[in-house]
Amino acid sequence: MGSAESPNKPPTKLAALASPAEGPSDGRAWQDLWSFKMVLGVWIPILAIGLLHYGVDAEHSWAHNVLRRLYHLPIIFAAFGLGMRGGLLAAAVVSLTYLPHAFLHIGHLAHIDPAGPVEKALEIVLYNLVGAVAGYLADAERRRRAQLRKALDEQRSLQRQLVRAGRVAALGEVVAGIAHEIKNPLHALSGTAEIVDPLIDEDAPQRRMWDIHLTELERLERIADRFLSFASPSPLEAQQLDLREVAERLVELVGADARKKEISVVTDLPDGPVLVQGDRDQLAQVALNIALNAIRAIGKQPGTIRVSVEADRPYHGTPMQSLRIENDGPPIPPEELEHLFDPFHTGNEEGTGLGLSISQRIVEQHDGYLEAANAGLGVTFAILLPKS
Ligand SMILES: Nc1ncnc2c1ncn2[C@@H]1O[C@H](COP(=O)(O)OP(=O)(O)OP(=O)(O)O)[C@@H](O)[C@H]1O
Ligand SMILES: [Mg+2]
Repeated sequence: MGSAESPNKPPTKLAALASPAEGPSDGRAWQDLWSFKMVLGVWIPILAIGLLHYGVDAEHSWAHNVLRRLYHLPIIFAAFGLGMRGGLLAAAVVSLTYLPHAFLHIGHLAHIDPAGPVEKALEIVLYNLVGAVAGYLADAERRRRAQLRKALDEQRSLQRQLVRAGRVAALGEVVAGIAHEIKNPLHALSGTAEIVDPLIDEDAPQRRMWDIHLTELERLERIADRFLSFASPSPLEAQQLDLREVAERLVELVGADARKKEISVVTDLPDGPVLVQGDRDQLAQVALNIALNAIRAIGKQPGTIRVSVEADRPYHGTPMQSLRIENDGPPIPPEELEHLFDPFHTGNEEGTGLGLSISQRIVEQHDGYLEAANAGLGVTFAILLPKS
């Protein structure tokens, strides 16, 4: 899904909202030991070599020599499959299998390996050494591959970011031109409307049409303003502020509208301040954009919006100050999440589709991230900002 992506920032797939702390990526589990591959490549060969080894007559020293060395194969296989842990475990199993055969007389059915005791002891040491070295090499290779994959992902994300930035810049120029052209005649229209308005009587049959005219004029003005703030963003006036104040102001701003629509707005704020360097008005605009979208998404039925603030929320390994706005409306389809922050992407007839795009840019100007996911109450938007 779309979100803040920049060269120096972590990739922002918004699923991170659901669990902001990074989980272990290399989760090779205990069950892997019993995977089909391991059973076939490690455990069955060890068993087979062991049985043969115990069964071969002591006179056939060549066979003992071969079988003793064959044990290395499953050890190496385990090391390459499961790394150092796998290599050492297989080496331990082999050592324990071979040890009685090397040094104990276990009755006439099991023959002792005829090699010298030093050679046999060295072989056991070698099993463990091979397990450790092969495992170490496999782990190093795996780490290198993971690094390469990460670098490739970052490169792709940067590429997408550049393409997107280019597209937004080009769009910005077009939109600025249109907004500018619309603004001037709109200004004139509003001026004349103000003069004409008192001339139309409240009871006149033309009044209804005139009211529609005024409403549409206002709508056009709103759209032109949206276009302008997309095309030419205002510079930040950053100061130290408490995110709890942004949350409280948001609740005041949307409270009345929400109550009318039977939507309860609940807050979850910490006792202490959650400080950031930010532009009070622009951050309030971001929160308001998100909350208005949430009200619209909940629709006609009663619902809940939860506004929560949290300090030091882990985000890709960095503690960030977070302001989350959740709603219990329907989830956003995954294919829409991908384009949520694209300019002019809208699912609503009245909207311009610029609200989230503008919001994202404002948050990015604060060196923060704006993320959305189907999480929390239903849909969650999180504004993550660096600590002040
Ligand atoms: N909380 C939400 N739940 C479901 N869909 C959402 C939510 N927030 C945004 N969307 C979807 O994302 C679209 C884009 O939102 P955005 O705020 O960018 O534009 P808009 O609301 O359509 O227009 P504008 O903000 O200019 O009024 C919305 O039209 C809606 O389809
Ligand atoms: Mg909107």
